[in-house]
Amino acid sequence: MSARRRLSNSCITAAVLSLLIGPTNGATVSSTPAQTFSGVGGSGAWWPMDLFHFPEATRQNLSDLLFSASGLGLSSYRWNIGGGGVNVSNPVRAPETFYVAPGVYDWNKDAQGVYFLNAAAQRGVPSLTAFVNSAPAPMTAGKTSCNSQFVTGSGAAYGTFLADVLSHFRGQGINISYISPMNEPDSSFGPSPCGQEGMEVVPNQRAEVVRELYNALSVKGLQGTVGILADESSSLGNARNEYSSWLPQVINQVAALVHHTYDFPSDDSYASYISNVRSLFPGKTTWMSEVCCSLGNADGSGRGWSQGYDPTIKNALMFSGMVFQSFLVANEPHYDFWTLVSNGIGCSPLNNPSCVNNPNSAGWTDGLIYYDSQYARNGNFQLYLTKHFWTFKHFGNFVKPGSQRHEITGSDANKSTLAVSTSTAYNIIAMNPGNSDTTLTLTFPDATCAGQAFRTSASEDFATVAGATRSGNNWVLSLRAMSLTTGIVLAAIVQVSSFSLPRTYQIGLVKM
Ligand SMILES: *[C@@H]1O[C@H](CO)[C@@H](O)[C@H](O)[C@H]1NC(C)=O
Ligand SMILES: *[C@@H]1O[C@H](CO)[C@@H](O)[C@H](O)[C@H]1NC(C)=O
Ligand SMILES: *[C@@H]1O[C@H](CO)[C@@H](O)[C@H](O)[C@H]1NC(C)=O
Ligand SMILES: *[C@@H]1O[C@H](CO)[C@@H](O)[C@H](O)[C@H]1NC(C)=O
Repeated sequence: MSARRRLSNSCITAAVLSLLIGPTNGATVSSTPAQTFSGVGGSGAWWPMDLFHFPEATRQNLSDLLFSASGLGLSSYRWNIGGGGVNVSNPVRAPETFYVAPGVYDWNKDAQGVYFLNAAAQRGVPSLTAFVNSAPAPMTAGKTSCNSQFVTGSGAAYGTFLADVLSHFRGQGINISYISPMNEPDSSFGPSPCGQEGMEVVPNQRAEVVRELYNALSVKGLQGTVGILADESSSLGNARNEYSSWLPQVINQVAALVHHTYDFPSDDSYASYISNVRSLFPGKTTWMSEVCCSLGNADGSGRGWSQGYDPTIKNALMFSGMVFQSFLVANEPHYDFWTLVSNGIGCSPLNNPSCVNNPNSAGWTDGLIYYDSQYARNGNFQLYLTKHFWTFKHFGNFVKPGSQRHEITGSDANKSTLAVSTSTAYNIIAMNPGNSDTTLTLTFPDATCAGQAFRTSASEDFATVAGATRSGNNWVLSLRAMSLTTGIVLAAIVQVSSFSLPRTYQIGLVKM
């Protein structure tokens, strides 16, 4: 039974009254949808190498924390197809390769990555991407998985390898729907020995990579099923400067232009990148596929690539601001953080249990969930959740594929207030990065009842809090200082959409 049909009569009456009174002041949620969302997620690099060795109960718990509605509720997962880790000094960042020789594969390799890929598929994560940092070592210029280059003319062999891998895993019921053949092609991640895999693909080689991969997918009949993502440039600046030298040749074979935002762009430069892409490649979708590792303040000031571990609400709101930026400023449909799980705590939780909750300069802010880097020696298999985990849960659970953004206009509208419609409700995700409590006043085209609200703040982790309240024809949601709040407002007039809220939340809604 749908939540819509079970709305009480008083909800319907309120809706009619609201339509009769009409909008007044405050911000207004448009009745017209903007973009339709396609995914919120992150990557499986390189933690599977470690987490595979954790007790099975912990691996299952981690999978639920990532992929179930009781956890982050991610709708996108990026699995790393390893290049064999040749010349990578850090064994955790040296994923195994299936490649043995042309057409010969060892499917028992990368059991670590495949375990968590399966965990995502089993939990119904709808958007699965395979991405590659380096071709199998034997195919690269230096016969290594880093400090090396793509070899011009090897595109067909590389494309065949990737198509064979995709075909194999799709044949096992794992519906990988995107392939990204060159992650950050602007760097080889040398010198050797390297900290991670990386294969440089210079701009005038990139069309070959895409074209030959597309041809290899076509041979398998997969060209309409698995979309090619390119080119995962590390910054918007690189992407934009390099597109013109290769992308026009293969634009029709690219499903979406995906980029990283390690330049931590201002709103203006992000918007300028988007308008440039729109004019050069009309109709081509762009999205954000990787970022991490910034300190800075809740309001976004002080952002930039940096070492340092900050598990607090300050950093969680700073990164939430980047999600808002991709969705609101750039109108993008999809957002992936970098590595979902990290060992960069920068301290020893067994020596000092509370250190996981406090910033330090030795760690890295590159994960949502952390684990002890010394687990193999000290047997500490604990998982540690940061505030970023709890804020990302708002986006994971309330920005689902098929749901749609609605523009908010008016004096209360700003770059950290997002309205997302589903078939039955509006999810309002609003951030207050300031130091005093405030309220958000909204008018909806068709709101009827307030549902639950959830809040993450210094003292709350996705806590259930009072929902929006009605004031005339407005809805008022309170936003505590330094918090991210999701308020659900039910709509009587539904959007045409196949999406429905996760069952756990729907039960909460219809009881109201
Ligand atoms: C890989 O490592 C070996 C051994 O240190 C070194 O001789 C070789 O030059 C490295 N290859 C590349 C491409 O860096
Ligand atoms: C994968 O796709 C096939 C065909 O498109 C479909 O029948 C199957 O149910 C999908 N599997 C999952 C786990 O979504
Ligand atoms: C899963 O891990 C989280 C984070 O450490 C913990 O709070 C929770 O109790 C664990 N759940 C289970 C079922 O082990
Ligand atoms: C956006 O508006 C909300 C509600 O009015 C307010 O709490 C928040 O601080 C504002 N955000 C910014 C970045 O100004």
